[in-house]
Amino acid sequence: MWEACALIFLRIKKKNEETLDSVHNPPTKNHGQISDLAFLIICLQLAPLSVLYIPSQTRRSNQILLHFQHIPPNTPVSSPSLLTDTLKIKMLSAKATCNSHGQDSSYFLGWEEYEKNPYNQLKNPNGIIQMGLAENQLSFDLLESWLKNNPDSAGFKADNHSLFKELALFQDYHGLPAFKNSLAEFMSEIRANKVTFDPKNIVLTAGATSANETLMFCLADPGEAFLLPTPYYPGFDRDLKWRTGAEIVPIHCSSSNSFRITESALKDAYEQAQKQNLKVKGVLVTNPSNPLGTSLSLHELDLLVNFVSSKNIHLISDEIYSGTVFSSPGFVSILEVLKNKGLMNSDVWKRVHIVYSLSKDLGLPGFRVGAIYSNDDMVVSAATKMSSFGLISSQTQYLLSEMLSDKKFTRNYLSENRRRLKQRHEMMEKALQKAGIRCLKGNAGLFSWVDMRHLLSSQTFEGEMELWKKIVYEVGLNISPGSSCHCSEPGWFRVCFANMSKETLVLAMQRLHSFVNSMAKKSKQSRHPQPLNGNPRRSKSLPKWVFSLSFTTPKSGKNRVSCDNKLTTNS
Ligand SMILES: Cc1ncc(COP(=O)(O)O)c(C=O)c1O
Repeated sequence: MWEACALIFLRIKKKNEETLDSVHNPPTKNHGQISDLAFLIICLQLAPLSVLYIPSQTRRSNQILLHFQHIPPNTPVSSPSLLTDTLKIKMLSAKATCNSHGQDSSYFLGWEEYEKNPYNQLKNPNGIIQMGLAENQLSFDLLESWLKNNPDSAGFKADNHSLFKELALFQDYHGLPAFKNSLAEFMSEIRANKVTFDPKNIVLTAGATSANETLMFCLADPGEAFLLPTPYYPGFDRDLKWRTGAEIVPIHCSSSNSFRITESALKDAYEQAQKQNLKVKGVLVTNPSNPLGTSLSLHELDLLVNFVSSKNIHLISDEIYSGTVFSSPGFVSILEVLKNKGLMNSDVWKRVHIVYSLSKDLGLPGFRVGAIYSNDDMVVSAATKMSSFGLISSQTQYLLSEMLSDKKFTRNYLSENRRRLKQRHEMMEKALQKAGIRCLKGNAGLFSWVDMRHLLSSQTFEGEMELWKKIVYEVGLNISPGSSCHCSEPGWFRVCFANMSKETLVLAMQRLHSFVNSMAKKSKQSRHPQPLNGNPRRSKSLPKWVFSLSFTTPKSGKNRVSCDNKLTTNS
């Protein structure tokens, strides 16, 4: 039995109505179109294809969905799988089926490949090692030993009295006051108490994912844009754009200055947005950066404050990795810069918002604990209402309020965690160096930004994909290609080091080393040496999804849905 399926969206349109806008603003009447029934009859004449036609009932009323399938003789026409597949798609909303989620990026595809063949020292020693997951497992023993030493907190008891009922019934979307207090103090401690956080200005969310999306809902209407320095965390396409309809315009940073944000890059991005009729509502940075593993310099922070002040726009600082800064220069929060500049209680003070989460610093991504911190009461109030869609369970809040209010524990945890991250980072960098691979000088995070330009067969994003596939399938390492982070230069990869044991990291580096050696041998034999230190330049041949996820070119900023791939552009 063989089967070839093609799913085709046919747009039967009025004469001279071939504008992209009509995809999003479909005519209410089908003037001048072939009737649905007539079209079905024509389709049914097509042999040897059997055609399943489903009249379009959705807002995209000028589209007709056809599902063509080769069906061997004697097979009933209405094959169940064919029917269900097609019906399933038509039953869903445009938002649910649009692909601005970014699930098709190599960042997520790499995870899928890992899931199919995960490395296990005993059960699957040749499997893929997961180095594409920014997870912090280095200090788990510290958390476990705190739980062991505090059985009452873990058992939801206080003074021998069970808190089970209280916690089970608690449903206030403002969150447990005790948790907000201890989270505020923890965040101050990470910043060496140079800034303090008022628990009243905290909105609790289910992780930084929810915090970022909620802020985007609060600050931008569909079709309005935020500027983001590249490379950036691949999940932002999903978190910032997918459901909000907001757009991301990249601030292109380059290896020539270690991917630092410059004034001209900020200006270029702003102008690019204007050219596309996108109203810029703000800038979003991650400090420290994912994927660079570096914290923002004072100069960059200064530039950002001046830029958002002059343009009268917002600044979101995602500081989810603030507690992972393991070497100098240390971490400086944007709030500290505002404070030092005497800008507290100024206009810009209210337009700067912090995103935080315990997923990285405390290594608890499964607990889904995040927060928005804003000095604008209106943002706090709107975000609190929206937080109903992603609350943190009371049990989790209670347990963590106990843990974070134990100052002795948090101080020790933060310093020990930094020490372990530093050690691990050095270990990986040294091993990469031995294999002739360099990294961007990093001081934070759970990953390194690794330069493999010299291993590319061509200095293009096709070359990067080719190398990435080899590394996933032949070497057995899932790392994240720079293009999945919207990097504008091919050949950079994010490699995580904190989600595995030392032994696994040693093995991963051995595999990579052998691969580099075998490549060098092959290139000697073929007498066509691989280009060393290739010339980094913007390639026009980026994979389609790199730009389709990063921004679209609308005809008009407002009435546009950011879901349709047809509107995407390669710039
Ligand atoms: C910069 C950044 N923001 C947000 C997130 C999402 O974090 P959470 O697990 O708290 O939703 C991540 C996760 O990797 C991240 O790297």
